[in-house]
Amino acid sequence: MTYNIAIDGPAGAGKSTIARRVAKELSFIYVDTGAMYRTIALSLLRSRINAQNETQVAEALPEIQVSIAYQDGEQQMLLNGENVSGLIRTEEVGNMASKAAALPCVRAKLLDLQKELARTHDVVMDGRDIGTNILPEAQLKIYLTASVDTRAARRFRELEEKGMAGSFEEIREDIIQRDEQDMHREIAPLMQAEDAIFLDSSDMTIDEVTEKIKSLCR
Ligand code: DC
Repeated sequence: MTYNIAIDGPAGAGKSTIARRVAKELSFIYVDTGAMYRTIALSLLRSRINAQNETQVAEALPEIQVSIAYQDGEQQMLLNGENVSGLIRTEEVGNMASKAAALPCVRAKLLDLQKELARTHDVVMDGRDIGTNILPEAQLKIYLTASVDTRAARRFRELEEKGMAGSFEEIREDIIQRDEQDMHREIAPLMQAEDAIFLDSSDMTIDEVTEKIKSLCR
């Protein structure tokens, strides 16, 4: 049997940084499910499909092939065979992903891939509905959050490092809007699973959060 750690939480809570670290230290695979939604979003943006138009999206989906590969232990996203990992980190793609992720047809498309990875590997999987929906049997579930200002500041710094920063206020507004969308959709909304452990990382370092999760795991 495989060991699965589910990490859910709102945008900018530090899920990917923490999940990647924990996975590395435990020799598990890190699975970034947000990247899968972002890959579909990129494809929809390229085809100028409106994510609010479910019929159009459903028609486009069969032509969108999402798969993953690992390069030096890092998850790479393939869109119809093209490595798009470097193209999916923009706010535009993130917002589109949040819209598309509210559609049942989009979620259904990614369900098997996510479940299969966890069935066949020890994983740290992060997203919005991992503990509640995708891996209800995960041995350890974490709900990782931080204050809106902390999350916006982290996102701002991350984008700044990539030379892509917009205004702090805009990023903060984006985060609030994205949380609203992700928490209030009908299907698989972001929420803390009953058996998930709540961690607020606002005043914790990356090392502290990583150690906490590892000790919970032990
Ligand atoms: O974690 P992220 O910012 O890369 O995710 C992008 C969007 O994808 C997020 O706003 C909501 C959606 N998502 C989801 O609905 N379910 C997941 N398990 C992961 C992401």
